[in-house]
Amino acid sequence: MSDETVNTGRRRFLTAATSAVGVAGAVGIATPFLGSWQPSAKAKAAGAPVKADISKLEPGQMIVVEWRGKPVYVVNRTEQMLADLPKVNGKLKDPDSAISMQPAYISGEIRALRPELLVVEGLCTHLGCAPKYRPEVGAADMGGADWFGGFFCPCHGSKFDLSGRVYAGVPASTNLVVPPYSFESDKILVIGIDAEVA
Ligand code: FES
Repeated sequence: MSDETVNTGRRRFLTAATSAVGVAGAVGIATPFLGSWQPSAKAKAAGAPVKADISKLEPGQMIVVEWRGKPVYVVNRTEQMLADLPKVNGKLKDPDSAISMQPAYISGEIRALRPELLVVEGLCTHLGCAPKYRPEVGAADMGGADWFGGFFCPCHGSKFDLSGRVYAGVPASTNLVVPPYSFESDKILVIGIDAEVA
């Protein structure tokens, strides 16, 4: 990866951080960053995995973890959020992630190793802006009764559901990317190492 690419990604990440704070202030959603557990800058540049303590992630809450200079969104989805996922299948471009990048062990509407825990890169698959977390069901500016929560990209209006699946009729054409990840324990998420699936 060139320096320019890294710097561009970093700028986007910082922009994302700023916007996330703005959103948190506006709608009362906490989006904390995890600063600990990070390897050295040199190790990160080489793509070292990062660990995140997910034990205090409240239902419905999202945190952002930096991996390889990119933001990774981690959302603790509620049972209602999971139950709502099938309701938007008919409005999506790739509901089964047939054409979108993802680890082989991710499938179906859930797109996650643990159903409640969504792990996706926080970069829009159109041109790489940082989508905003918009979990409010029925948000008037997101489509009202047709909106069951998800992510909204402020750059050109792409929308994704709470599994990172892209809506039809928006500029982005593929679902948010699921990075390789696994669990060290019940509490520790590891981003950058694929899960071993029997
Ligand atoms: S970068 Fe997200 S819609 Fe264009």
